[in-house]
Amino acid sequence: MRKSYIRSLGHFVPSNVVTNFDLEKMMETSDEWIQQRSGIKERRWVEPGETTTGMALKATQEALRKADLKADDIDAIIFGCLLSDYIFPGGGCLLQKELGCSKPIPAFDIRNQCSAFPYSLQLADSLIRSGVYNRILIVGSEIHSTSLDKTTRGRDVSVLFGDGAGVCIVEAAPENSKSFIIDTIVQSEGEGCQYLMIHNPSPMNHPRMQANVELDESFYPHMEGRAVFKNAVTRMCQIMGTILQKNGFKPSDVDFVVAHQANMRINQMVMNELKIPFEKTHHTIEKYGNTTAATIPITMNEAVDLGKIKRGDLVATVAFGAGFTWGASLMRF
Ligand code: UT7
Repeated sequence: MRKSYIRSLGHFVPSNVVTNFDLEKMMETSDEWIQQRSGIKERRWVEPGETTTGMALKATQEALRKADLKADDIDAIIFGCLLSDYIFPGGGCLLQKELGCSKPIPAFDIRNQCSAFPYSLQLADSLIRSGVYNRILIVGSEIHSTSLDKTTRGRDVSVLFGDGAGVCIVEAAPENSKSFIIDTIVQSEGEGCQYLMIHNPSPMNHPRMQANVELDESFYPHMEGRAVFKNAVTRMCQIMGTILQKNGFKPSDVDFVVAHQANMRINQMVMNELKIPFEKTHHTIEKYGNTTAATIPITMNEAVDLGKIKRGDLVATVAFGAGFTWGASLMRF
């Protein structure tokens, strides 16, 4: 039976570092509050000229280099992003152009927020197993910094998010490969939509955009932090339990967990509840904050580069985000 595996990863973050002390100058907040409540020390925010496509391209070039592949070796792109460079078309088409592919290839755009990685991996794994494609580029690329309310009004959200891109190349595993995707599970519950969303601009408005409109709170991300936090811990624990049990593993079998980076305390609680030692994770939240769709590939790429994840290891990924959406994957890396 055909299986797929992660052949290589890559990531890119903008060079502009924004520390908690920088944020203290923009709004009423403190380095102490941000670190205690979230674990974040700094994040990267783009400067004019940097784009979601441009970051995705740089991350992709790293993954191609590591696998000794060229752009033309990619059969399809799955691009995860809240909003890429334009409202439409999606980032997948824009990246296909920038990659310089000599032929047209399919580009899927998915909007599953912080859960983009497990959603993309399920899609890629299914398309490869079923024989439709051999090699798929999964991309998460995100610019948050230009949509944040950087005044005290928006401080509960704006201190948490950063910009960056992470990618991985998934391809058909050679026969008897010790590296393969074991399973992926994804879920959504629209009841949770109200707790994390941006209301405007919306096509429900007639007209969608008006001249001289006041940029009130509805144009910035709205988050009810405590409700999101509680649901994140519950759902991440549940889905990890389900995917392990379904595939006949115990938490103690897991060599490494790559968890979404929304809040260090969420991940500590999840690992505690699952009784998986915290040393079996890698964190990027201190330096990059929450980069939604980009987070898991960024964090996994770093963990691989640092030698924390090795070929053949039993690796789980787990994520939770707006929608609500959540998901997990299990693989022999
Ligand atoms: O990626 C999608 C998933 N996202 C998440 O999973 C995020 C989940 N939520 C969280 O991470 C946490 O709820 C936060 C980090 C957002 C907030 O932490 P909290 O411990 O839940 O704090 P809180 O919202 O209960 O707020 C506590 C206090 C409030 O003041 P009062 O009402 O107690 O006087 C807030 O106004 O902290 C205040 N506050 C801040 N103070 C300084 C909120 N934001 C800030 C800030 N700096 N940036």
